[in-house]
Amino acid sequence: MDLSTARAIVTGGASGLGAATAQHFRSRGAEVTILDRDAGGRDFAAGIGAGFVQTDVTDEGSVAAAIAQAVERMGGIDVCVNCAGIAIGEKTVGREGPHKLDSFRRTIDINLIGSFNVLRLAAAEMARNGREENGVIVNTASIAAFDGQAGQAAYAASKAGIAGMTLPIARDLARSGIRVCAIAPGIFGTPMLRGLPDEVQDSLAAEVTFPKRLGDPEEYARTAAFIVEMGYLNGETIRLDGGLRMR
Ligand SMILES: NC(=O)c1ccc[n+]([C@@H]2O[C@H](COP(=O)([O-])OP(=O)(O)OC[C@H]3O[C@@H](n4cnc5c(N)ncnc54)[C@H](O)[C@@H]3O)[C@@H](O)[C@H]2O)c1
Repeated sequence: MDLSTARAIVTGGASGLGAATAQHFRSRGAEVTILDRDAGGRDFAAGIGAGFVQTDVTDEGSVAAAIAQAVERMGGIDVCVNCAGIAIGEKTVGREGPHKLDSFRRTIDINLIGSFNVLRLAAAEMARNGREENGVIVNTASIAAFDGQAGQAAYAASKAGIAGMTLPIARDLARSGIRVCAIAPGIFGTPMLRGLPDEVQDSLAAEVTFPKRLGDPEEYARTAAFIVEMGYLNGETIRLDGGLRMR
């Protein structure tokens, strides 16, 4: 798919990897509408010439309304990049007692069900495009899907769900001419991580095989762009981690 003429929605586009993706796609000529629950994303979107709809990805009505607004604004949807997500750290049994079920559910709800909620409605719109290739969906997993750390039961489960659903969704949507891939980032220098003390960032970077640094959100954005443009890539989860294998 030609990114320069694509109409893309980017969830979580108010911050971090999603914001870098929205900005990169705009710089390549794509139309972009950001869906994020953080209303602060409105100014960022305006600054890069993107649309913005305040959206909670876990809410059916909110996402349906956001997709309808994105279609009205851009005339359709060709690309859906799901970056909305949260990270929590909580042990199965910690000092405070057993893992809270609410926090486990909420992590799955936002990271996994939220991504599926958006992509199923976006795919229905893409299917109307009437071309041989009607759309591309890019979800965001994590290396925690494969090498989750202590305290990451909920997060790793949500990301393993993203990796696990990639192939069956690609198979489901093949007849609609829609490709589906996921990116599994390692450790990226998003606002969340850049807020950590320098020595913590340095010790995380030292774990990376090569190059020994945090990933740049722009590198995530360029990988998403590559997936959009590479028509033979489908049903795959791509690790983007500088060879990092967590213990
Ligand atoms: N930064 C990393 O190192 C890293 C590594 C692996 C995976 N990831 C994944 O990449 C994605 C983006 O991470 P990031 O570092 O850019 O995080 P971030 O916190 O900078 O951005 C996440 C965005 O998602 C939005 N969001 C959260 N819940 C939402 C909801 N219910 N509805 C709509 N929007 C919602 C937030 O408002 C925020 O703008 C996440 O799924 C994260 O798990 C990040």
